[in-house]
Amino acid sequence: MNAPVLEIDDLTVDFHMPEGVGCAVDHLSLTVENGETIGLVGESGCGKSMTALSILGLIPQPFGKVRFGSIRYAGENLLTAHSERLRRIRGSEIAMIFQEPMTSLNPVLTIGRQVAEPLMEHKGLNKTDAYAEALAWLEHVKLPAAREQLSQYPHQLSGGMRQRVMIAMAMVCRPRLLIADEPTTALDVTIQSQILSLMMGLKEELGMGILLITHDLGVVAQMARRVVVMYAGQVMEEADVEILFEQPFHPYTQGLMQSIPRGLKDDRGRKIRLNEIPGNVLPITEKVGGCKFSTRCPSVFETCINHHPSLKTISGGHRVRCWLLDDPDRRR
Ligand SMILES: Nc1ncnc2c1ncn2[C@@H]1O[C@H](COP(=O)(O)OP(=O)(O)OP(=O)(O)O)[C@@H](O)[C@H]1O
Ligand SMILES: [Mg+2]
Repeated sequence: MNAPVLEIDDLTVDFHMPEGVGCAVDHLSLTVENGETIGLVGESGCGKSMTALSILGLIPQPFGKVRFGSIRYAGENLLTAHSERLRRIRGSEIAMIFQEPMTSLNPVLTIGRQVAEPLMEHKGLNKTDAYAEALAWLEHVKLPAAREQLSQYPHQLSGGMRQRVMIAMAMVCRPRLLIADEPTTALDVTIQSQILSLMMGLKEELGMGILLITHDLGVVAQMARRVVVMYAGQVMEEADVEILFEQPFHPYTQGLMQSIPRGLKDDRGRKIRLNEIPGNVLPITEKVGGCKFSTRCPSVFETCINHHPSLKTISGGHRVRCWLLDDPDRRR
C-alpha cells in the first residue's frame, strides 16, 4: 500500500521568546491518507496554523523551533529534507491556501503572472503556455471575466474573487496534498459555500488529500471524513466525522459542538456563534501538570488537575485524551 500523503508523528513546536519558552504544538500526530479530507479543528490559538506551517518549514522565525517529531510527505521526512527539495515540494506537490488571500497574493504582480508563475517555475512551461493554462484554471474556478482579470492586480478584486485566484494558484501544479488554513472564514456565507463546493470538486478531480483547518465544525461536517480536535497544542479527540458528531466524548469537543452556529446571521451575513466555551485558552508559556483543558472543563476532578492524560483508542479510529475514560460515572 502507498504511504499516506501526510503523516505527522509526535510533532512538538516551541517558541523561544524573551519572556520564556512556550509550546505551541505538543506531541501531535495525525495522518492524511491519499485523497482523503481531514478536518483539524480547535479554538483560536490552539496551534492549528503552527501545525500547518511546520509541514512546509514556515514556522515564524527567529523564535519558532521544531523540538521533536517527524513530518512525512508520501514517506519522505520533510523535517530533514534539504531546503531546495522543500522549495520544490512547496507550491507544486503540497499547496497551501490561507484565510486572508492578501497575505499570500503579491500586491504588485498581476493575477495572470501569479497564477502562471508556479507553472513556469515547477513545470517548465514557457510564458505563453503558462498564461494559457493559468487562464484555463481561472475559468475552472469560475472567476468572473477571467480573461480580463489576468492583467488586474489583487486589490482590484473582491474577497471572494481573490480566494478563487488563490485556489487556482494552489491547483495549477496539481498538488497531492492541499493544506487549507481557514480558507473561507473571511467570506460571507453564500461565497463560503461556493468556495467549499469548488474545493470538494477539485479534490475529486485531482484525487488530492486535504488538511482542512478551521474553527468551524459546520464546515468540517460538510467537507471532512475524519476530524482531529486540538486544544493547547494537543490532540484531544479524533474520530470519523459521523462518530464525532453523534458521540463526541471529550468535554472540549462537546463544548465546541454547542458553539456551532445554527443558521443565525449578523447584519453582514456572517454566522453568529451561540455559546462560547467559558474561560480562555491558556497562554503557551503556562505550564500545566494535569490535563491542559482541566482549567475550563465542566467535568474536572482531582486526577485531571494532577495527572496528564494520554491519548487512548476507544474504538476503531476513535481516540480520546481524557480521564473520564477511566471514570465514566463522572461524565456530565
Ligand atoms: N510568531 C509567534 N511568536 C510567538 N508565539 C506565537 C507566534 N505565532 C503563534 N504563536 C503562538 O502559538 C500558539 C498557536 O498559534 P496558532 O497560530 O497555531 O493558533 P491557531 O490555532 O491557528 O489559531 P487561529 O484559529 O486564531 O488561527 C498561540 O498560542 C500563539 O500565541
Ligand atoms: Mg490559525
